[in-house]
Amino acid sequence: MTAGGDCPGLNSAIVEAIYEIKRRKMKPVLIRNGYKGLLDAADGEHDKNVMSLDHVDLDTVHGSGGTFIGSSRTKLKDDALNKAVKGAENLKLSSLIVIGGDGSLLSANRLSKHLTVAAIPKTIDNDVAATDLSIGFSTAVETAVTCVENIKDTARSHGTFFFVEVMGRRSGFLAAHTATGTRANCLLVPESPWSLNSVLPRIVEGGVAVVSEGAWCPELGSDAGRGPGGQLAGVADKIVEKISEGTPERPQPKVKLRAVTLGHVLRGGRPSATDRVLATRLARQAVELTHQGRSGLCVAVNGKITSVNLDQTELGRKYLSALDLYELASMLPGQN
Ligand code: F6P
Repeated sequence: MTAGGDCPGLNSAIVEAIYEIKRRKMKPVLIRNGYKGLLDAADGEHDKNVMSLDHVDLDTVHGSGGTFIGSSRTKLKDDALNKAVKGAENLKLSSLIVIGGDGSLLSANRLSKHLTVAAIPKTIDNDVAATDLSIGFSTAVETAVTCVENIKDTARSHGTFFFVEVMGRRSGFLAAHTATGTRANCLLVPESPWSLNSVLPRIVEGGVAVVSEGAWCPELGSDAGRGPGGQLAGVADKIVEKISEGTPERPQPKVKLRAVTLGHVLRGGRPSATDRVLATRLARQAVELTHQGRSGLCVAVNGKITSVNLDQTELGRKYLSALDLYELASMLPGQN
């Protein structure tokens, strides 16, 4: 099952898991649309919620973007947990592998008390604390770097300064790697406080700022419940709007400002080789754990491929550390 937002590398993980499960003489069952498929299976709609492999060319799917079995943001809270257990019984599952981000891993942990469950971390935000690297991050960084370099061409041609917004939720990993990989003039992340005044000296003709969607400063207004569905997107537009307005204390800059939000562009595309290899290694380990009947573990890469107890308190989100921020500050142009 793939749960939560999609990202590149999911199909590589699914395909490897299928081959590994078959190699061990077990039968893979592909649950459609994440936990939603499991819940619907409790209502008896088996065929609709399980993906047939009859007409699927796994070798083509392996290197493609998205998830060919579908995903959803459904989580297992309260009554939904019992219903999901019933769904797993209806589908005659001996064990379950969940490929998901931190929210989906919490649901996996709850389910693991009733069924053998292994989790595989994925997210372009790279904010799952259990692992150094999540599936999807490497490709998203590559895509973001390409996009920012393209934008820099226009910035230089027209002497404009661009604020380029990238996803990341409340963690700045994707923004930090993108800014470092493109020698951006400015980096704004949620982990480090900033103000519009602190941004002004960074604005130069032909330059770019990389802004993490979760970065916010009080001068922009309230951050509570941004976007109708709670989405964080829109900070780059807001920064350009506020700086361009100017105030008596903060005059408008002479350079023309533009905002670009990369958004879901970063979640799509074919996975990088790094993501394919990571997905392959993690999927194999997840099958191994479930085959051994070990439940409640999240596979991870921490130097080597390992596994972390889903119960452990360190499981949750991770953020850029003070050391990361200090290092980054000295790496960007004109910051040292
Ligand atoms: O968790 C991955 C992520 O891409 C975040 O960076 C972003 O805030 C969120 O998903 C957007 O999700 P959705 O498309 O469901 O609004």
